[in-house]
Amino acid sequence: MASESLHSVAGPARRTVMAAAGAAGLAVALTACGSGDDSSGSGTVLGKTSDVPEGGGKIFGDVVVTQPTAGEFKAFSSKCTHQGCAVKDVKDGVIVCPCHDSRFSATDGSVQKGPATQPLPAEEITVEGDEIRMA
Ligand code: FES
Repeated sequence: MASESLHSVAGPARRTVMAAAGAAGLAVALTACGSGDDSSGSGTVLGKTSDVPEGGGKIFGDVVVTQPTAGEFKAFSSKCTHQGCAVKDVKDGVIVCPCHDSRFSATDGSVQKGPATQPLPAEEITVEGDEIRMA
C-alpha cells in the first residue's frame, strides 16, 4: 500500500510583516520663529495649546497637559503612581491609566479611582502665546 502522502497545497505561507509606524504622532514642535533671541532659561516646548482640548488633555512624553477649563492649563507627571505605567487618555476631566484603570483628576491630579492611592505629581509649565513649555 504505497500511499503517497500528498499534502494539500499549503498555500503561500508568507508572512507579511507590516512595519508598525509606531512613532507616528510624535510631533515635537521645535519651531524656530524668526526672532533668534536666546531664550534664557525657558524650558523645552512641549506643544501647542491647540493640541490640548478643552476638558481633555494630551500626553507629551513624561508629562500630561490638561485644560480643565478654557485657557487654564495644568500639567502632571504622566507616570501612574500605581505601578508606573504611562497614563494614556484624558477624557471628561479624568486622566486614565490603561494598566489597571486608575483615574486621576485632570484639574489637580488627585486619585478619582484606584488602585492608585497617590495623586499624579504636578509639573510646572508655562504658556507663552500658544506654546506650552516646561517651566
Ligand atoms: S499602573 Fe496605573 S493603574 Fe496600575
